Amino acid sequence: PTSSVCVLDSKDAAGSAPCAHSLDSIPGPTNWPLFGSLIELLRKGGLKRQHEALIHYHKKFGKIFQMKLGSFESVHIGAPCLLEALYRKEGNYPQRLEIKPWKAYRDMRDEAYGLLILEGKDWQRVRSAFQQKLMKPTEVMKLDGKINEVSADLIKRIRRAQVNGKIDDLYFELNKWSFETICYVLYDKRFGLLQDSISEEAMDFITAVKTMMSTFGLMMVTPVELHKTFNTKTWQDHTAAWDRIFSTAKLYIDKNLKRHSNGDSENFLCDIYHQSHLTKKELYAATTELQVGGMETTANSMLWVIFNLSRNPCAQAKLLKEIQEVVPAGETPRAEHIKNMPYLKACLKESMRVSPSVPFTSRTLDKDTVLGDYTLSKGTVLMINSQAIGLNEEYFDNGKQFRPERWLKEKGSINPFAHVPFGIGKRMCIGRRLAELQIQLSLCWILREYEIVATDHEPVDALHSGTLVPSRELPVAFVRR
Ligand code: HEM
Repeated sequence: PTSSVCVLDSKDAAGSAPCAHSLDSIPGPTNWPLFGSLIELLRKGGLKRQHEALIHYHKKFGKIFQMKLGSFESVHIGAPCLLEALYRKEGNYPQRLEIKPWKAYRDMRDEAYGLLILEGKDWQRVRSAFQQKLMKPTEVMKLDGKINEVSADLIKRIRRAQVNGKIDDLYFELNKWSFETICYVLYDKRFGLLQDSISEEAMDFITAVKTMMSTFGLMMVTPVELHKTFNTKTWQDHTAAWDRIFSTAKLYIDKNLKRHSNGDSENFLCDIYHQSHLTKKELYAATTELQVGGMETTANSMLWVIFNLSRNPCAQAKLLKEIQEVVPAGETPRAEHIKNMPYLKACLKESMRVSPSVPFTSRTLDKDTVLGDYTLSKGTVLMINSQAIGLNEEYFDNGKQFRPERWLKEKGSINPFAHVPFGIGKRMCIGRRLAELQIQLSLCWILREYEIVATDHEPVDALHSGTLVPSRELPVAFVRR
């Protein structure tokens, strides 16, 4: 990747010892005793609007600032040059912020950790077991048949569920779509979530994932040990949800392993299990985390691209034209077709830039690191704000505008570190290619059958709730072509 012009970084990259300052000299919002900047953040709209506050702080303090919320200290970076510097200094086992509630559950039940919470050599071992199947383009392309089966169900579901083109709780429908797809890929099992009547098992499974996701946020900002000791409702709900997720996942993983030992060939999980040295426990944990990591993020990105296309009819028309030119009428869109669809890829990229699902990721530094003008000590929590970079006019002209063309015409001038919706480096999202293919193929299915129209033009805000969700039901309708 090219280096952007970055005074801070170029000093460092040039090799001359940078005159690095300590953490204390990094600017940031007022750090009040005890609370740090918590009160200010709450006044700016609270945790639900934390992403807006962080963008505001980047505008005010620049590429790097520090912040304390209660006793939690973090350093925020929001410039491609700093991301590039971090990437170049990355060790073998980068770490994210710990998800303590998940670890507490696994420790209590004597279960293993998966990719989202593993660290060090164990993380690397599990990551490499899944890396090829999920990150190698030719391997992921093989999953298009399964993705298409679920996409066909989604289309039928839209047909049945729409009333005057509007779908009640589109987000939940898309969560069912992404969940169904990831389960089909992982367990080779259809749960039938897009059918009109859903089995109790399937409903319990997806509800458990939703409950687990909605209960851990609170335990990230309050001590999980307290929740555990006092057996709070949050802790009870969280553990009950994980119990359900693990028991269902184990059931289907075991079925797959059994089928495989009976001579069935080509099975996603069995191939991984037999080609790696993972224990069964590790396989269970890694699989459940792929499943929870892939559900809401993919559904959410799909939701926002639907929204952005509804607000940009010209882009939508151009995209339909590309689809019709590449995929002959009556033929199923395949991964091979997507290779020849630059505009489709640009639409997804642009949508993830203007409306990202995951606004930031984190790193816990595993060694003292010089970043720009500052020396950050081992243990520092870094927040990497990909949303702030994506919306910064310095890196994207008319940054608020949805303009897929920028990824085609001005491609060479966009710094690769300015668009990182899936994170960076060795710990970047392992499901990236699967998610992209899923969204791209399903968009082909939807657009061929429906025009997505905006039913109003009032603003739709994004609220932070793990991912960035729309503040209201999306004002879109699906109009049959
Ligand atoms: C990690 C975003 C889909 C599984 C991540 C990270 C981001 C992200 C930002 C953190 C990367 C970093 O720290 O550098 C997304 C988005 C998705 C998506 C926006 C959809 C559009 C998926 C899917 C799966 C998945 C489909 C499962 C197949 C994971 C896992 C990790 C991860 C396991 C942790 C990887 C590791 O630490 O080794 N994702 N993701 N994600 N994602 Fe995704």
